Parts: sequence; C-alpha cells; structure tokens
Amino acid sequence: MPQGVRVRVSPPAQILFHLMIVQDFIASEVTNKIQEISFSWESPSNIALVKYWGKNPDQTPKNPSISFTLSDCKTTTSVLFKRIDKNSKVVDFDLIFEGKKNVSFRPKIENFFSKIQVYCPYLLDYQLTISSTNSFPHSSGIASSASSMSALSLCIMSFEKNLTSIDNDFFFKKASFISRIGSGSACRSIYGGVNFWGNHQEIKNSSDLYSVELQQDISPKFNNYRDVILLIDEKEKEVSSSVGHELMNNNPFSKVRFAAANDNIINLMRILKSGDLIDFCELVESEALMLHSLMMSSNPSYILMKPETLTVIKRIQDFRKKTDIPVCFTLDAGANVHVLFPDKFSSEVMAFIKKHLSSLCKKGKFISDSIGLGPKQI
Ligand code: PMV
Repeated sequence: MPQGVRVRVSPPAQILFHLMIVQDFIASEVTNKIQEISFSWESPSNIALVKYWGKNPDQTPKNPSISFTLSDCKTTTSVLFKRIDKNSKVVDFDLIFEGKKNVSFRPKIENFFSKIQVYCPYLLDYQLTISSTNSFPHSSGIASSASSMSALSLCIMSFEKNLTSIDNDFFFKKASFISRIGSGSACRSIYGGVNFWGNHQEIKNSSDLYSVELQQDISPKFNNYRDVILLIDEKEKEVSSSVGHELMNNNPFSKVRFAAANDNIINLMRILKSGDLIDFCELVESEALMLHSLMMSSNPSYILMKPETLTVIKRIQDFRKKTDIPVCFTLDAGANVHVLFPDKFSSEVMAFIKKHLSSLCKKGKFISDSIGLGPKQI
C-alpha cells in the first residue's frame, strides 16, 4: 500500500450514504489473495440533458449535470487479473480492443490507473488483461469514454468485492467514483434511468464525487424515452473534450453558465416530475445550444457543429411546431445530433427521421437507442 494511505474503516450505513468523502473510497486491507480471476461487464453510454462543461483539477465538475443512461450503445469489457510477485509501482496491464492489441488508448488507461491506484492499491499486485468491444461502430463519432470507463471500473469493483468485504451501495458508488476519474461523464453510466452528478444545495445526497440515480419524481412519460443518434460526422473531434473543459477556465461567460446550469437543474427536476414535454424540449435544446455557444466563445474559439447539424436542428423544430409531437434534439461535444422523443410517437418520428433527416447523415447512418436499465455483469 502506498505511503500515507489510510485503511478505510466502514462507517455505519446511513452515514456512508450521506457523507462520502474522498478517503472513504480507499480500499480496506486485502486478506484474500486470489491467484487468478476474471470479470466481465457491459456498460452503456449516456446522454446529458443538463451538460457538464468545465471541471476542476480533480475531475469534479464546475456544475451539476443530469443524463439519461442509454441502452444499446455500450462497451463490453472483460478483465483477467493474474497475481504477480514483483513489487510494481504502476499497474501492469495489456489492452485488447476489438480483438487486437491496442496502443492508442493506452496513455488514457495508464493515466487512469495512476490516479486510481491510491484507491485500489491491490491492483499493483496483479497483471491485468483488459479486452473490450463496443456495440456501436468504431469511429462513428460517438464518444465511448463513458461506456468504456464505466465498464472497466465495474470489472475493477467486482475484483475488489472478491478481495474485501463491501456492500452493494458502496460497490456502485465507488464504481461511479473511479469512473469519474477516468472520464467525468462516465460516472453517470453506472446506474440506469436518470442520473445526477454534482453537488447541488437543493438536491439531497448529491455529490461531485459520484453520480446518483434519480428514482423518485420521474414522470412515467419518460419511460422508454427514445434517443436516435444521427451520425453527421464520423471523424475524431477537432477539439477534445478535455481541451474544451479547460478552455472554460478563461471563458468570459463561465460564471453565467455555471449559474444557468444550476438553475436548469432545478427546472429540469420540475419538468421530469411534471412530465411537461414541451418544457422538456425547450430546456434540453437550450442546454445543447448553450454548450456549443461556450465553444464558440472560448479563446481560441471553435465550432464542432457542421452545416448538416444546423439543418437537422431546424427540421426537428419545424416538425415539432407542425405536428405538436414533443421531439427535440440535444448535442454532445461534436456534430452528431441526438433526437429525443417519447416511445409512443416512435412510428411518426422514425418515419420523419428516415424521410427528412437520414439523408443528412454520413452514409445515411443513424443509431436507434432508448433510455436503459444500466450496466450488466456477464
Ligand atoms: O466526460 P467528458 O470529459 O468526455 O465530457 C463530457 C462533456 C459532454 O458530453 C459535452 C457533456 C456531458 O455532460 O456529458
């Protein structure tokens, strides 16, 4: 165990639930010396409704965010843990992506392990073989960091559960905590449904360190909510999310943005409870456009939307006005468009997408997904 690291002493359950601090996530001393074991998880991506944009050096967010966990856009990861005798200072791992040894993702995973080894010191005694595949096409322009980091974190937590004694609540909280260290938004993929990440004074149990699933006060109108992802641009983004977050430190509108995001959290919570879908569309679209306006007002400024993105946005808004069907768009940090709508309007909206939007997608491609139940151990 690294010097200066204290052994976690489990507080009583209720305290654990309310008062998790960074030190609570340091693994207890390991007594069970397993020689070899493997775990597999599949974990989905998620789409933010109120966006996280801007972070602190410890990868805590500048403002809280709320997301839908998806169902079919997911990463499946298996990790084989083999005990080694050498006294390693860094986590020893091999990385296989879609059946091939992968070098391009290695620095990100190395960085992840260097940051989490203080919380999971037992990893230093093992050699890890990590094998991953994505359900969505590679280089589709869909960020896979949320699904991949959450799947890997869950495999690590399954291992920790076999080495130490932890309860289910701690299992998922720590999975979310370490996922966050890998990629901020990944912490919201640990649970299904609607997720909340970030400290908000009006939301009980909210934390900057991990996400919580919002189980109460969600209208049934959001059950099976659909998300069709229009693949407008399949290339890697010109400006990465990490650079984008960093540019928020000097963005002239950052203070106003963080205040607006906090207000939108309260507004969205009210909408999720009431099920007012027109208010939902307006709020979600304004969040997406605010995210991209922050990119345009950064220094240096940049634009990730493509001409097709704007055409799609206009067509969705016109369709909503004409039909009164509550369909809206949201955007990630990229050109692709997520089309959100209630399941009961699927036939009308899918016909509209095929007729009026798919021609604006690269090779006519889009991915049909919906709100999902969260990760699954396999
Ligand atoms: O988790 P990151 O660092 O890839 O940032 C994600 C940022 C957005 O997708 C734009 C918003 C969000 O909350 O997911």
